Amino acid sequence: MGRIAYVNGAFAPQAEAAVHIEDRGYQLADAIYEVWAVFDGRLSDAEGHFARLERSLGELRIDMPMSRKALQLLLKEAVRRNRVHDGLCYLQVSRGVAPRDHAFPTNGATPSVVITVKAVDRAAAEAKAAKGVGVITQPENRWGRCDIKTVGLLPNALAKQAAREAGAYEAWFVDDLGLVTEGASSNAWIVDRDGVLRTRDTNANILRGITRHTLLEVMAGEGMRVEQRAFTPKEALEAREAFVTGAGSMVLPVVSVDGRPVGDGTVGPVAMKLRRLYIERAKALSV
Ligand code: PDD
Repeated sequence: MGRIAYVNGAFAPQAEAAVHIEDRGYQLADAIYEVWAVFDGRLSDAEGHFARLERSLGELRIDMPMSRKALQLLLKEAVRRNRVHDGLCYLQVSRGVAPRDHAFPTNGATPSVVITVKAVDRAAAEAKAAKGVGVITQPENRWGRCDIKTVGLLPNALAKQAAREAGAYEAWFVDDLGLVTEGASSNAWIVDRDGVLRTRDTNANILRGITRHTLLEVMAGEGMRVEQRAFTPKEALEAREAFVTGAGSMVLPVVSVDGRPVGDGTVGPVAMKLRRLYIERAKALSV
């Protein structure tokens, strides 16, 4: 069965679905997006993604295209029509279609809404987690509002491509102070030498990951020691463990940075335990 996409009011075979060439998302990256993991046909860790969607739109002064409830129904209908049990659900909202001009359209525009769904092989994802992945470091070169989940992802795409060419899974951006900000499509964590879980604080220019947020709650519930404090790539190499988090990667162990082993270079128990606990929690928070 071919994939089905939703575009501006209608479901259509994905191969035929299209947006206008003067959509501001296409021309100016004037658009935001969200990604939900899908478990058992449900949108996982749902609430946080809806809340961030509304915040991103608010920051760009784009109207919510419909009520949250209507949007949720539509996302679930997209999952159902694609018969996806386990996968990812992608939503993009742009400011809409208008003759090209950098400033906002004066007579308003109707936000464009696109939804796509793809299946994920969970067995393959688990096998990948059990093996761990490598990351490379890249200079931080993104704009100053990475807290907004916009589709302006060119630096992220270039960093991810560099990772792929180096045989790694993810790229970690490193700022002018030599501190890791986050990954190209994930947040970055270590279990430091003292056994403390560390990830960058959200005053830094990073995306406030929903997986990160829910995981912090899980860690608090487990009584784990956590600090929202930056780390260097060197600290990551000296750490007991490292991992990345995101709707796509869940909690994914990192076993090397720039080709050098993290700790003893094997997947550690903390990351794998957190992966299991996070997935449980995300399913409990699904709609
Ligand atoms: N990426 N940081 C960046 C730059 C991201 O793009 C993402 C998510 C995250 C993790 O956020 P969350 O836990 O809310 O998924 C952090 C999505 C999955 C993507 O671009 O496909």
